[in-house]
This record gives sequence, C-alpha cells and structure tokens, in this order.
Amino acid sequence: MPDSETITVIAIDGPAGSGKSTVGRRLAEHLGLDYLDTGAMYRGVTFAALRRGIDPADAADVARLAEAVELDVTGGIVLVDGVDATIEIRGPEVTRAVSLVAANPAVRTEMVRRQRAWAAQHGGGVLEGRDIGTVVFPDAALKVYLTASPEVRAQRRAKEVTDLDYATVAADIARRDAADQGREASPLTEAADALVVDTSDLAIDEIVADLVRRLP
Ligand code: DC
Repeated sequence: MPDSETITVIAIDGPAGSGKSTVGRRLAEHLGLDYLDTGAMYRGVTFAALRRGIDPADAADVARLAEAVELDVTGGIVLVDGVDATIEIRGPEVTRAVSLVAANPAVRTEMVRRQRAWAAQHGGGVLEGRDIGTVVFPDAALKVYLTASPEVRAQRRAKEVTDLDYATVAADIARRDAADQGREASPLTEAADALVVDTSDLAIDEIVADLVRRLP
C-alpha cells in the first residue's frame, strides 16, 4: 500500500445515488487532487466480461479477466481494452451484472491493487466507492461516508438515466444496496472513524466546504 502518511488520500464511500461522484469530483478539483471513480472499474470489468461472452457468475473466468483487462477510467472517458465504454458501463446490462462481479473476491483483490497503484502514481487523490475507507485506504487523511434517503437517491439516479422510469431505478437501487451490503467480500459499511453525512437536504457546495474545513 502506498504510504498514506506522505500522500493525501481522501476516501468517499456510500450507496448508489448518495452523491459520491459529485462531491468527490468537486472536492478533488478544489484541492488540486486527481479523482478516481472505483465503481467505474467494477463496471469496466463487467462490460469486458459481457463483451467477451464470459458469464459474470463464472468466478474463475471473471477473475482471470480482471487481471488481464486494460482499464482507464480517469479523464471522464472510460476505456476498456481501448474501447470507449463510457455510456455502456452505465447501461442496464452492466448495471444488472455488476453486483455479481463486485462480489468476486479475486476481482476485488485485483481492483484494490490497481487503486493503490493509481494513488501512488498520482500522489494521492480522491477515491470513491464502497470499500475505500474500510479496505483500500484505512489510513486515508479523511474518510467520508455519504448517505441519503432511498427516495432521494432513486430520484437522483432517475434523472441521470433518462430511459428508465423512477420505479425501475428505485427497485434497482434497492437490489444493489442489498447486494453491496450483504456480500461476504468487503461489504459496504461505514468505517468506524468515517464522517457520516446525509446529503438528502444539503447543497453540494455546503458539503464540499465542510469537508475542506475538516481536512487535517
Ligand atoms: O458506484 P457505482 O454504482 O458505479 O458502482 C457499481 C457497483 O460496483 C456497485 O454496485 C458496487 C460495486 N463497487 C464496489 O463493490 N466497490 C467499490 N469500491 C466501488 C463499486
């Protein structure tokens, strides 16, 4: 693990629609740090599996794929083996299968290794996901756990994915919450020392300003 005493790592975790990406991007920009969306990495592996005809439930095949696949999720465009998958990784097929891929312990080990290497190369950064403060960087300078009511989270996601109705999005979020929190390998949970922020009724600027004030 890179020495998080000498590089600044900010860990943001929380369920889908809790505001991680918006807050994470703004905070990174404000602090002049790079930003890593680790969910896009799990989505990228899932996209690669579907594209190659690998069954997402085949743990051994997916584990091999996770080691071999080329992922570049920085810079706003998501490249999977050199193919622009920015749109498809957010689509219903990948969203349906990603929980299975993210529950694969070997996939997680490989993604965690890549996330640590990324932070070392980038001199730290803002990383967001489900296990950043608990597993990837337990010594992060600041650990934040964002939450919001299920209704608010579903409303936010429904606005992003214009082709799905609210009920479908809400059901999907509930299913993924249960899978992320109930899995054996690195389940979604707040680190004991994380700052828990309910973003349901807060403006982004308020949250970012508060986090900046709390940085050591
Ligand atoms: O944040 P997202 O919805 O794009 O994440 C996609 C899936 O990946 C989500 O269902 C949980 C999983 N994930 C994870 O298990 N660990 C992470 N660090 C990030 C995402």
